[in-house]
Amino acid sequence: MVDQIVLDVSDLVIEFNTESGVVRAVEQVDFQLKKGKILGVAGESGCGKSVTALSIMRLLPKPVSRIVQGSAIFNNQNIFTLPINDMHHIRGRKISMIFQEPMTALNPVHSIGKQMIEIYRLHFSELSFDEMTTAAVKMVEKVGIPDPDKVMKKYPHQLSGGMRQRVMIAMALACEPDILIADEPTTALDVTVQAQILSLIKSLQRKSEMSVILITHDLGVIAQNCDDVVIMYAGRIAERAEVTDLFKYPKHPYTKGLLTSIPSLAKEPKTILPTIKGNVPSLLDMPEGCRFEGRCPLVEDICRKIVPKERSIGRNHTIACHIVDA
Ligand SMILES: Nc1ncnc2c1ncn2[C@@H]1O[C@H](COP(=O)(O)OP(=O)(O)O)[C@@H](O)[C@H]1O
Ligand SMILES: [Mg+2]
Repeated sequence: MVDQIVLDVSDLVIEFNTESGVVRAVEQVDFQLKKGKILGVAGESGCGKSVTALSIMRLLPKPVSRIVQGSAIFNNQNIFTLPINDMHHIRGRKISMIFQEPMTALNPVHSIGKQMIEIYRLHFSELSFDEMTTAAVKMVEKVGIPDPDKVMKKYPHQLSGGMRQRVMIAMALACEPDILIADEPTTALDVTVQAQILSLIKSLQRKSEMSVILITHDLGVIAQNCDDVVIMYAGRIAERAEVTDLFKYPKHPYTKGLLTSIPSLAKEPKTILPTIKGNVPSLLDMPEGCRFEGRCPLVEDICRKIVPKERSIGRNHTIACHIVDA
């Protein structure tokens, strides 16, 4: 069966103004999200994962940053050029996002119930208040919150971190979006709650055929939850593959570096990206060629001069590297 592509991001370039000049936080990133699948996006802190997600939501901080190039095709429309009013209709209703820190998404001065109902009011204004309330309570129950009626009356600060995360998931899923973007949704939580939240996202995703972009720096989370993976390095994509291929046949020296110090993914669900010798280059001072050249064990002259183009090395498997053979 051919997979249906629900979101097709291509040639994405994002710039930031900084005190030292303009930097390109994301450089020519492409990826496709398949219907009903989970795409993992992994890479060290600062490699451009969140910024990529925010660009799809059209929530990049203004005026310091902007999309300077590229497209994100959703339902035959380019999200990046949509009038902002059309984007309001898509955001939340068709594409929603959950953040690492729920307090950024929750309003501290309104009860959970009020915030949930507001979502239905925005997107399903034809419902009566009672119908909205019933739908909201049901959704809160669905994300595994005990005593939903009671929680609806509470304020965000009265809930634990795990409960707040669940509330944010309930809010993100209230409109049954086609796409959920989950940016490090469990990083701030303890391991047990983490596993619960991930399995919750997965079970809701399976039931509704939703597509998910799961952003994480935790390769264990990728291995256990994703169908496809994109590995980012310093604003570019280093490697992409289906999840089993990536862990069985990692090809890019960066991916290999990330994986070698992990003893066993199966036994070790909570594996943080290990450190690779050296540092990610500053965006202000990027090498002319491959961005990984300064840390790469295979580096040759060409790597210092020419940016490696992504090339296919197998079914649905690509790398951006001059040196590695297929
Ligand atoms: N508010 C900002 N101002 C300036 N630069 C920023 C800002 N936010 C992000 N960046 C730049 O974008 C890069 C990518 O950031 P981000 O997407 O948040 O990384 P990740 O989510 O992968 O940890 C950062 O390394 C930084 O250089
Ligand atoms: Mg981030």
